[in-house]
Amino acid sequence: MSEIFDFLKKTEKERKQVILPPEPEVEEPDFGAEPGPVEASWSPAMEAEPVSQELELCRDDRFDLTDAAPQVKTVMDPLTLIGEQFRLLRSRLGLMQKQRGIKTVLVTSTVPDEGKTFTASGLIGVLAQEPGKRVLLIDADMRKPRSGVSFGLNGSASSVGLSEVLQGNVSFRDALLTCTNPEFSFLSSGPLPPNPSELLSSPILEQTLKAAAADFDWVVVDSPPVLSLSDTVLLAPLCDAVVLVVRANSTSARLVEDAAGRIGKERICGVILNRQKHLTSSKYYYQYYYRKVKS
Ligand SMILES: Nc1ncnc2c1ncn2[C@@H]1O[C@H](COP(=O)(O)OP(=O)(O)OP(=O)(O)O)[C@@H](O)[C@H]1O
Ligand SMILES: [Mg+2]
Repeated sequence: MSEIFDFLKKTEKERKQVILPPEPEVEEPDFGAEPGPVEASWSPAMEAEPVSQELELCRDDRFDLTDAAPQVKTVMDPLTLIGEQFRLLRSRLGLMQKQRGIKTVLVTSTVPDEGKTFTASGLIGVLAQEPGKRVLLIDADMRKPRSGVSFGLNGSASSVGLSEVLQGNVSFRDALLTCTNPEFSFLSSGPLPPNPSELLSSPILEQTLKAAAADFDWVVVDSPPVLSLSDTVLLAPLCDAVVLVVRANSTSARLVEDAAGRIGKERICGVILNRQKHLTSSKYYYQYYYRKVKS
């Protein structure tokens, strides 16, 4: 890990020394409107009542990426630079799978908005593009779930998901949604619970991740940020590896080090430096780096 912190500290120092030219206006596409506060979407009835049979039967559990966010589509385009970087990440994880047998990969970051959901959604997209691979994305961010929105799913698709599985209201396999093109499975966060950390402490979580690893070649888990919440600290030991997303020129090396300490440095298999802007001959563009941690 020290290699990563040295790198972050170096870029912080350089940032202080270099007077950057004014940045052009970069329109940041959003996955959609911000979700309301957790309490607003939660009804106590959801906690007590099991998911009705009718709800399950009516649920449309198949979707495609026609309405997916432009960022997800760009990653899956074989001709884009960012797509190439995601495929590089896929190759490196593939190598680690061969060497160390990893299957469940937790995507997290130190603080909010560093690009976890973007990374998890893009990664599942490129993993699904590999012929014959069975892959699953779990949205384990039960506070601010955005993976479904990044795939263009509306709220009704989230009626059954991880929160219902962890409450024992539905089985993991019955809660899965299927993307048809490219083919992958998706376990949405489900209705927002008032007590995500408590739910993540349930033994059902471990059973679910084990069942997922048995059924799929890859399981990618989107999660909340590490600092200030215990959710990711509960998830990390149950996953085979952690990919830490760091927003370039934004999150300090000290905070990243704190976060790495909380989840356990030895669990981190790689760090992604996201949204690094590079000045080429005439313009900036987003860059996406993956730096393998020496094991
Ligand atoms: N490399 C990138 N290129 C373009 N847009 C990006 C990139 N990374 C992130 N974004 C955009 O930045 C916003 C925040 O990203 P994202 O939702 O992935 O962050 P997050 O870490 O999951 O946030 P949260 O902590 O709220 O869950 C989104 O609109 C996303 O599309
Ligand atoms: Mg997110």
